[in-house]
Amino acid sequence: MTDAERVAAEARRVLAGNRRRGVSAWEGKRYDFVCPSPTHYPFQWFWDSAFHAVALLHVDPELAKREIRCLLQGQRADGFMPHMLLWEKDAHPKALAEYLIRLERPFHTATIQPPVLARSILRIHEATGDDAFLREVLPPVLGFFRWLEERRDPDGDGLLSILQPDESGLDCSPKFDSAMGIVREPASETAPSLKRGMERLFRGELRFEFEDVMVNAIYADGLECLARLCPAEATGLRRRAARTLAALQDKCWDERAGAFFDLAGPQEEKSRVLTFTSLFPLILPGLDERRAKRLIDEHLLNPKEFWLEYPVPSVAATEPSFEPDYACRAIWRGPSWVNANWYLYHGLRAHGRADAASELARRTVAMVARGGMREFFNPRDATGYGATDFGWTTLALDLIASEAVHSGERSRPSLENAWPTT
Ligand code: GLC
Repeated sequence: MTDAERVAAEARRVLAGNRRRGVSAWEGKRYDFVCPSPTHYPFQWFWDSAFHAVALLHVDPELAKREIRCLLQGQRADGFMPHMLLWEKDAHPKALAEYLIRLERPFHTATIQPPVLARSILRIHEATGDDAFLREVLPPVLGFFRWLEERRDPDGDGLLSILQPDESGLDCSPKFDSAMGIVREPASETAPSLKRGMERLFRGELRFEFEDVMVNAIYADGLECLARLCPAEATGLRRRAARTLAALQDKCWDERAGAFFDLAGPQEEKSRVLTFTSLFPLILPGLDERRAKRLIDEHLLNPKEFWLEYPVPSVAATEPSFEPDYACRAIWRGPSWVNANWYLYHGLRAHGRADAASELARRTVAMVARGGMREFFNPRDATGYGATDFGWTTLALDLIASEAVHSGERSRPSLENAWPTT
């Protein structure tokens, strides 16, 4: 068996095994979704579900639609969509004791996650051509993107703000350390000091506001996807996407570093920690080509920073906070994750670097073949860490399918147009 065959079989097993179905104590709503991990994450998470839907296209497109429909049931009347939906009440006590979260209502959080949803819906529509599904889901998704613009861009510069680290999806990334008062030395102090920081945040003793580059790149990409799905609103959506890209280029780009950095606080100070966030504007085909080239050649493909044996590490290997082996027991501080690789794979393709994209796909599949269906991986030797049977690691299925199409092994037009090209 090849790596790809083994990983594809394992991915299908995880997608089937993690499926959760039932009737919730939350107003008797029916749920049907893939949880990120039966042991660690039994609920529905916002960006995880969007990734699961893409992977499910390679199993059964009906399941991909169900995943999105289930997620949309959590939407509030004003458009807001929560980052966690805690469908099964029995699992609440354990979760509330373990997670550092704040619930708005008993069944969902008051926080957001990166808006990957629009990209998933475009992928579902490309794969199925199901216009009825589109008519059903577009109004709520447009409503969510409107909510983001109205409620999360207080200074009106086109960049969304997140109000706690989890909203980026990159909970413990060292790029937030200084804002969260994290003590890094010794490594055993990182997780407890993060917990203290979160408690201060929840008590209102700490103000956290970040214009996060990855969140905003995913947001601009989402607006472009919606423009393609919704011709009636395309002009306005494209204008909003262009504004966000322009703000990323004007405010977050650092010419000396040749990379993008998040803006922290009302003073918009650049958080100059080199993480894979810094590379994310690559997913936007409209990114200035000179900057795209610098991101790729000076950083992504740099063997001292991100191009390790099993890329792409969440933190550049040159950063003092880089921890490839999860020693500090806090996530997003060095290991590689399949969801970031999936986005950056398409970013490389969008900027005409198909060879590097193929190599990234190959190494990602090899990493999962070695490390198993884990949550994240050591970028040097592919050891798997964190949750087992982890949901979005199944995005490897999509990378495998995309590579098969591009190498001409088989032709699936629905996957051919998976990403906009320049
Ligand atoms: C962790 C990750 C977050 C993810 C969740 C479920 O909290 O930081 O991004 O959504 O786990 O997988």
